Amino acid sequence: MSDQEILARAKDRAEIGQRLEAMFAPEDEALKFAIQSAQEHDMPAIQISPLQGKLLQLLAAACGARRILEIGALAGYSGIWLARALPADGKLISLEVSEKHAEVTRASLAKAGVADRAEVRVGAGSELLPALEGEPPFDLVFIDADKPGYPVYLDWALKLTRPGSIIVADNCIRGGAPLRENPPDESTRALGEYDRRVASDPRLLSIALPLDEDGLDGFAISVVRG
Ligand code: DHB
Ligand code: MG
Repeated sequence: MSDQEILARAKDRAEIGQRLEAMFAPEDEALKFAIQSAQEHDMPAIQISPLQGKLLQLLAAACGARRILEIGALAGYSGIWLARALPADGKLISLEVSEKHAEVTRASLAKAGVADRAEVRVGAGSELLPALEGEPPFDLVFIDADKPGYPVYLDWALKLTRPGSIIVADNCIRGGAPLRENPPDESTRALGEYDRRVASDPRLLSIALPLDEDGLDGFAISVVRG
């Protein structure tokens, strides 16, 4: 392919992405507020894309989710998409290590009108996850936190779900490095371990899909088998 053709295709991909977003995943005031709040609080702009948010909603609806666990809240952008998939008596529990990020997340969820069904718990996963063991299982778990923690979060997701639950993890492709041998750092190694485990664990039916604008990162999606 010539450089010109490569550029033309990249332009087509960008335009298609924009049109799909406008058609299937338009952002309302609350979602825009979450992104703006993150900026105002000097938080990184690493939230999922609108189409990824819509996919989370679709997956939650597909498994009839009434209880959702999110590991890593950031500014509440993904939390809004998830909480909006819940029935009025459903529950999102979002775990966040930073008190500041948790406050921003609570404000975003309130702005979205889902504060009644969303709870943000502050602390390290190693403290907060064991406390969930006595609660009913989660129908969907979304992992989007510190990358070295992913294999441990997968262990917890398996403990805290039921057959038919869905486990989603962000950033499982990350430019391809986790899929190659000789990972350059601990985050990449841990993401690669996550990918290999969900691909081969007989308790899970899994796929990883490139989902961002340039096809270089995306979700690993797993269904817990019966
Ligand atoms: C980073 C974390 C994320 O969850 C993400 O989606 C993108 C980047 C990061 O830590 O750099
Ligand atoms: Mg992420």
